[in-house]
Amino acid sequence: MHACGKKGRCITCKIIVLSGMENLSPLTEPEEIYRDLGKLKPNERLSCQAKIMDGELTVRVAEENKLPHIHYSE
Ligand code: FES
Repeated sequence: MHACGKKGRCITCKIIVLSGMENLSPLTEPEEIYRDLGKLKPNERLSCQAKIMDGELTVRVAEENKLPHIHYSE
């Protein structure tokens, strides 16, 4: 879900990075703020802010952000 329209003002697009964190762009200012507030852990990013720079990435959607009508793989 992207409740704020991808502006970095919510955390409904939070992803948990399982592998490939090194392949993502540096934290953006909104991500830095959420990290400082303790709302974004070191293994989490905002999908609207992070860009894949190279290589592969494996992520999981945070439980609190899962939509009830969508089936998520394990
Ligand atoms: S959609 Fe709101 S922070 Fe990403």
